Amino acid sequence: MADRPMDMIRLDFDNLMAPGLSGGVEADEFAGGMAEAFGRAHAHVEAQRATGVLGFLDLPYAQESGQQAQKLADGFAQWFEDVVVLGIGGSGLGAKAVRDALLGPYWNDRSADGRDEYPRLHVIDNPDPDTMLGLLQRVDVAKTLFNVVSKSGATAETMAQYLVVRDAVERAVGAEHARGHFLFTTDPVGGALRRIGDAEGIPMLAVPPNVGGRFSVLSAVGVFPAAVCGIDTGELLAGAAAMAERCRSGRLAENPAGVLATLLHDAERAQGRSVHVLMPYSDRLRSVALWFQQLWAESLGKAKNLDGVLTPTGPTPVPALGASDQHSFLQLMMEGPDDKVVLFIEVEDHGPDAVIPKRHPEMSEFAYLGGHSLGELMNTERRATAEALRQQGRPNATLYVPRITPATLGQLFMLWQIATVYAGALYRVDPLDQPGVELSKKLTYGLMGRVGAPRPAMREPDPRWRI
Ligand code: PA5
Repeated sequence: MADRPMDMIRLDFDNLMAPGLSGGVEADEFAGGMAEAFGRAHAHVEAQRATGVLGFLDLPYAQESGQQAQKLADGFAQWFEDVVVLGIGGSGLGAKAVRDALLGPYWNDRSADGRDEYPRLHVIDNPDPDTMLGLLQRVDVAKTLFNVVSKSGATAETMAQYLVVRDAVERAVGAEHARGHFLFTTDPVGGALRRIGDAEGIPMLAVPPNVGGRFSVLSAVGVFPAAVCGIDTGELLAGAAAMAERCRSGRLAENPAGVLATLLHDAERAQGRSVHVLMPYSDRLRSVALWFQQLWAESLGKAKNLDGVLTPTGPTPVPALGASDQHSFLQLMMEGPDDKVVLFIEVEDHGPDAVIPKRHPEMSEFAYLGGHSLGELMNTERRATAEALRQQGRPNATLYVPRITPATLGQLFMLWQIATVYAGALYRVDPLDQPGVELSKKLTYGLMGRVGAPRPAMREPDPRWRI
């Protein structure tokens, strides 16, 4: 049987454009000034790419590192019943997005048989004692692999988790066997984690130096956790490569990442619509919206522009979930301040679907539901919500995902990552750095007593303002 051609994601941005949307972007503006601005952003990104700083664009083709992750996932990792990823920010959100999208809800609740004998997969990003102690009670530590993910190898939250877990593993299996329960994903050369790994002979995977945390989902950071549960990572990377090709064009109308970046930038800058809501109508894609939130916020929220001039910049990304948030956030989106753009994701084919039985034909309140399916209801509600927003003059667009597969997820990841670097060029900020997170880290080091970090003078709160 011939291979099925790859499902491709489509972007429908009609509800951002005039005349469909009252006050929407005019066609000649799109083809004129916006296309020119995008052309400049595209040239900027191509120049950056030539210098080698946009390493995430090469990840779909990085065969050697992909194979290394796959080999470890297929080999020693299959000895374990549970795999726990410890990593925060870009070192945790991608793995969560992959797990939730491709393994679906309740993976960890299935029997080993129901998981085709693959391990359960946990991603613990927050050093919250409740979660950590709960995890250590839930898993059999002696049969668990801990994948510690930290590019810098120094992040306080992840290192603290590692130390807690290391102790638990040593208690369970003895100090001499503990190292066999770890896999580190970190910088290829430097950092404390790599030093520990080198000293103890712990297996390690590398995050390329030119791939930043929030752009690392297609490196070993996301590929190992995917592969360990039997996800076809070749397909994930092939999907990402296909999207990278589609987004190579300097012509705005042909480049989906360019369209997203350009229209979202314009919505914020020219229309005051600074809240960018990503709202998948799929529980599986909820974590993709959380991943997007970090990518968009940490990349575009910057104090200084590329010339070093102080111009605090950045849209506010908000993750939402359809249909649930129609009963929570939609009222605000419809009638609250007109400062939002909503980006829906519709999954066209949800796979096995639940048909709604025809019962109570006498009850007009819900008789109409009978014979339809839950997937159909989700997609109809997405359509109705987009139209309701349009009628209210509220801009929105939809990404159509034919089915949730490794290939379409790879496309989604690549689409948003490329849109982010285009948006960085349009905003004229560096999307690859995050200087704003340093101060709170420094204060934490000082307060926790790190050697060389001065204890900060913290202002005592004014007692008048405490009740
Ligand atoms: O996107 C980023 O660079 C950050 O969110 C990092 O991923 C996060 O701070 C974790 O860093 P590290 O992987 O060094 O532990």
